[in-house]
Amino acid sequence: MTIRQLHLLGSPLLRQSATPVAVVDDAVRRLVDDLFDTMRGAKGVGLAANQVGVARRVAVVDVGEEFPPPLVLINPRIVHASDVTETAEEGCLSIPDLYGEVERPLAVTLEALARDGRSYSVELSGFKARAAQHEIDHLDGILFLDHLSAVKRHLLVAKWKKSRKGKPGYVKDVTPEPAGEL
Ligand code: NI
Repeated sequence: MTIRQLHLLGSPLLRQSATPVAVVDDAVRRLVDDLFDTMRGAKGVGLAANQVGVARRVAVVDVGEEFPPPLVLINPRIVHASDVTETAEEGCLSIPDLYGEVERPLAVTLEALARDGRSYSVELSGFKARAAQHEIDHLDGILFLDHLSAVKRHLLVAKWKKSRKGKPGYVKDVTPEPAGEL
């Protein structure tokens, strides 16, 4: 189990457009496993490679529902998005403790490569669709803040800067809580 450090708002990696994966090899599989470990350690529902300092098009999503099972998104593409949208609160492991209401398509169809390198397609709706869209945004250097109005965004960024005062750097260690803790 390898929990990697998280890159926080301010890290240039979060603004980088990630490079497609040419071959799903052992290094990519290890990255997938580390993303799951880090995401779970940080109690998140999704994590993109940019957030652990790797600008490759790899992300994971696990919203804790049985279907579809946890998603491995390698070179993911949204091939269809519903006209119907939904607005709901989002946060991000790279911008801890800040939340904003983001409007997104309610349902999307994705194509991606799985951990074994095979391509697959999946239809998602609701929270799963939102989480997947949020992670795919990360791979293009987009954060949930970018979907907010300028006023809201400036407010959150100001809060963020205040909370980061005196804390150097853009990376943080993920310290999972001991098993069994409520
Ligand atoms: Ni995020």
